[in-house]
Amino acid sequence: MAKQSSESAAAAVSEERLWNRHMEMAKIGATPKGGVNRQALSPEDAQARSLLVSWARELGFACAMDDIGSIYIRRPGTDADAAPVMTGSHTDSQPSGGRFDGIYGILAGLEALQAIEEAGIATRRPIEVVNWTNEEASRFGSGCMGSQVYTDPAKLDEMLAMKDLDGVSIAEALAETKAAMPEIAHRALKSPVAYFIEAHIEQGPELEATGNVIGVVTGIAGSRRFEIQVLGEDAHAGTTSRKRRKDAVRAATDMIRALFELMDDPDDTVRFTIGRFMVTPNALAVVPGHVLFTIDFRHAEEEVLTRLGDQIEAVCRRNAGPCKVTLTEIRRAPTKSFAGPVPDAILSVTERLGVPYMHIFSGAGHDARYMADHCETGMIFVPCEKGISHNEAENVKASDLAAGARVMADTLIALANR
Ligand code: HGY
Ligand code: MN
Ligand code: MN
Repeated sequence: MAKQSSESAAAAVSEERLWNRHMEMAKIGATPKGGVNRQALSPEDAQARSLLVSWARELGFACAMDDIGSIYIRRPGTDADAAPVMTGSHTDSQPSGGRFDGIYGILAGLEALQAIEEAGIATRRPIEVVNWTNEEASRFGSGCMGSQVYTDPAKLDEMLAMKDLDGVSIAEALAETKAAMPEIAHRALKSPVAYFIEAHIEQGPELEATGNVIGVVTGIAGSRRFEIQVLGEDAHAGTTSRKRRKDAVRAATDMIRALFELMDDPDDTVRFTIGRFMVTPNALAVVPGHVLFTIDFRHAEEEVLTRLGDQIEAVCRRNAGPCKVTLTEIRRAPTKSFAGPVPDAILSVTERLGVPYMHIFSGAGHDARYMADHCETGMIFVPCEKGISHNEAENVKASDLAAGARVMADTLIALANR
């Protein structure tokens, strides 16, 4: 009979096993510069999902998938009817992503489950590790799709219909992913969860710069994402005078210059990014008739998101010249704060394990933002080298990954016995 839940499985966490699993995963979608390109529901993502399921099944854990493709790995509790404690993150990456963004949150959870199993600890609640579909929004839509649909199933059909730049829908890509994966049970959306806790690399420089290993996350910055289409008219580069031109690149660059002027705040707290800029027909001797560009605008204060974000459309229209402009807000995600039993549990375990820590606010978005609307939620950060992320050079220390997994293991035990 497994011993009743004691307070710690930290000693059973294996730094080497955790690192090796990351290196195995990093081979999937590996890029020449040492990063990964494993975009949502791509063949590489299907491969990573299959590897994750095979590891989980080797450990005797049941696996299931929901209607948007998120995967759940479950370790039973003594009370099968109790709402589970859930941890997890995402296998998908940016096109030139790093080897740790997202996948760490899944592998730290799997390592924690294995350590709890090896320590022979029984918990009252089941514990689940989740892989959320399409957190990154590099291929499809607005990101954090798995957690958005899990917590609000009414969004399912709209998300399944979203298409990538090649016109492939999520529904089609999901069918291909399922076909490439082993058979898996079905999991209902929005079933009760007692607590959600996500481990992630910080993707910023603070922990490393201050010599801390654990970040107890206090919240996530709000974000507004827009797609801007500038419509001009294709024309001959040699015969079209300036006054006859409807040059979409000229209009788009005027808009972008004015937008940066609007967003360049004196204390450098605004995060404003034009990440995608696509010209059509993208031909040397053609005055371009169409530009699509995206805006990713973030700030910790809702008032700033509203005050500056609500000026974007007027700035674009003012600088459109002879072109037309359409603006679509593809997502507005509110600022979230984490307080209560999950951050409290993270803090007391971190202090008991004697790991140097600080409280930290997240400029990066995570699925925990949406889970916070569903249950008590919190996050653990670990350092990454020079804060580099969304970059193939992303790197971490194996010892920091393991420290985060130890805190995760004992926090899961504490929450699963509440
Ligand atoms: O964009 C983000 O904040 C997340 O890394 N996808
Ligand atoms: Mn991430
Ligand atoms: Mn990311």
